[in-house]
Amino acid sequence: ANPAGILGTGHCVPEQVWTNEYLETFLDTSDEWIRSRTGIGARHVAPEGVNTSDLATGAAKEALEMAGVSPEDLDLIIVCTLTPDKMLPSTACIVQANLGAVNAAAFDLEAACSGFAYGSIIASQMIENGMYDHILVIGAEVLTRVINWKDRSSCVLFGDGAGAAVIGRVPSGYGILSGAMGADGTGGDFLTIRSGIANPVTDARRADGSAYAVMDGREVYKFAVKAMPHAAELALQRAELEKKDIDVLVPHQANMRIIESAAKRLHVPMEKVYVNIEKYANTSGASIPIALDEAVRTGMVKRGDIVCLAGFGAGLTWASVVMKW
Ligand code: ACO
Repeated sequence: ANPAGILGTGHCVPEQVWTNEYLETFLDTSDEWIRSRTGIGARHVAPEGVNTSDLATGAAKEALEMAGVSPEDLDLIIVCTLTPDKMLPSTACIVQANLGAVNAAAFDLEAACSGFAYGSIIASQMIENGMYDHILVIGAEVLTRVINWKDRSSCVLFGDGAGAAVIGRVPSGYGILSGAMGADGTGGDFLTIRSGIANPVTDARRADGSAYAVMDGREVYKFAVKAMPHAAELALQRAELEKKDIDVLVPHQANMRIIESAAKRLHVPMEKVYVNIEKYANTSGASIPIALDEAVRTGMVKRGDIVCLAGFGAGLTWASVVMKW
């Protein structure tokens, strides 16, 4: 059977944009502070009533169109998210209904910002082993609902959006060549949203901020600059490729300095790195598939290119996918 590869990509972001200057109107921060430390200039913010499943469905439709695959042809939908619409049912089931993907199984996957890379690896395995032909992998988030808008050290970093890819069979010699995933649960407290079954959200916990995302930025930074290149190196090794073989690096868009550091460690010049953090900020699970979709649609990714996706995130988690486009 032919190898698994990406047949089409898409993305969807809410219309509303909050610039750094807008944040200055209610937060003790500045465009200069945010830009110089992170590279972020703005973020898209979903209004009330627009949820992860809506953005996921929008991204999915674009990806299906580019792939020339109809919803009925999908065998499985994986939604990678840390901001599901509901605890039950899964966001993937909501998307399945929205699309009319009547033949698709559906489940959510939670690996934070590494989610899309985790999901793509799982999908490629299920296609390679012959079980399925078409799998839709979506990364989608409404992070602006789970961050503490009074905590300037974290809230300025995040935004909302979704990106998707249809994975199917591609000609031999192309497609997903290898993947690497990892986790270190002992670092879970460095970036956490404690709300859940063990810690129900209360008014008191909303008021003191403990219901929302809490981050130790320095610890996450230290982890990220090692984890992203580590994941990519492992995936390259498994594909019997070298750093110099990377034509396009699509990293998780968390912080410009982290991206530059990872690119340097991988000896990839910045012209070969797709960066859109300026306009979207960090959209967690959506960040890599949004960036990949833009890199494809702008023509930066060309047929035959070696494309490396690399991410890190809460968990802690990290993952990379190497493919020949
Ligand atoms: N505006 C203005 N000042 C601020 C802001 C802000 N938004 N936030 C913090 N400050 C202040 C702090 O209070 C501190 O002031 P002090 O020195 O008087 O105490 C000062 O700026 C410096 O703060 P630091 O935390 O030391 O700044 P640092 O250089 O470490 O940068 C940052 C912070 C940008 C958060 C950095 O640590 C980082 O990017 N870490 C990684 C974060 C990340 O990637 N998270 C998500 C990854 S996982 C996922 O994507 C889900």
